[in-house]
Amino acid sequence: MAAQSMRDKITATLQRAGELRDEEKLHRYNGVLYPTILCPEQHLKDLGHTKAREDDVMLAAYPKSGFNWMVGVLKNVIAEATATKVVNEIPPLMEFLSPEDMKMMDQAPSPRLVGTHMHPDRIPGSFYAKKTKILVIFRNPKDMLVSYYHFHNNNLILPSGQSWDTFFSKFLSGDVAWGSYFDYVLAWEGRMDDPSIKVVTYEELTQDPSRGIRDIGAFFGLTLTEAQVQKVTAATTFEAMKKNSDETHPTIGNVIFRKGVVGDWRTHFTPEQSQEMDDAFNKRLAGTRLGAKLDYQKHCQ
Ligand code: A3P
Repeated sequence: MAAQSMRDKITATLQRAGELRDEEKLHRYNGVLYPTILCPEQHLKDLGHTKAREDDVMLAAYPKSGFNWMVGVLKNVIAEATATKVVNEIPPLMEFLSPEDMKMMDQAPSPRLVGTHMHPDRIPGSFYAKKTKILVIFRNPKDMLVSYYHFHNNNLILPSGQSWDTFFSKFLSGDVAWGSYFDYVLAWEGRMDDPSIKVVTYEELTQDPSRGIRDIGAFFGLTLTEAQVQKVTAATTFEAMKKNSDETHPTIGNVIFRKGVVGDWRTHFTPEQSQEMDDAFNKRLAGTRLGAKLDYQKHCQ
């Protein structure tokens, strides 16, 4: 989609969202909250009919875990490895797709980039049946909560008038859009041995992005030369993506590309809140492989 028509579409969506009261901005579907404007009930119902392809490049993430970063990485990796530009026509999240977008997706050439924040048990079954490769990015819950909090307060799509303390409690009880972070992680834990699934973390990618990009390309069978790996790395730094965001994310670039660091939670959490999150993490994720991969002690204590 050309930047101007994307800009018009986003502006219209934000305008519609701005007309809703905060309490109308989320709705519940099968027990889970979703943004009313972007994921109306009909989209969520239609999602089940999505026709997966074996060679789709699929990206899954809980909100605010680095999804847009990985969209940038995957677009660049596909463009480099296949020498075709991925046209940014399909909204990056399946649950945002209107019936017209769905048609566009059905007709899009392979490899299609498809993404979702949906809980893995709610990802359309055709992706598992086709053994579509899925990259899942996780982020430590403290930084993610901070990112989600700011996203609410700077984005008309989501309820905005929430204090830090209120949002903190809602997050811990899972009463936020796309549901509980802990349920999400635990559900992927059960799929860790599936060779079609690759798990990465935001923290390890910030540490060594080139290595991550090389591995991600190889996982999807999109082999890159070392020069291409370096090119993609340079194009997908936080600074580069923020700078380019007026093209890629017109009107919402500054909201999505906020700070891009590990450890911002330290400027937000009280000692009591930090302890409460530690307790929740220990209760739900201690002893899990994903819990270990998140390296909670290093990044959150
Ligand atoms: P912060 O709010 O902590 O800055 P998502 O895309 O899933 O909504 O995640 C958004 C978070 O990813 C934001 O975190 C954003 O700054 C960060 N992010 C986006 N692009 C990034 C990049 N290239 N490198 C590192 N972090 C990035």
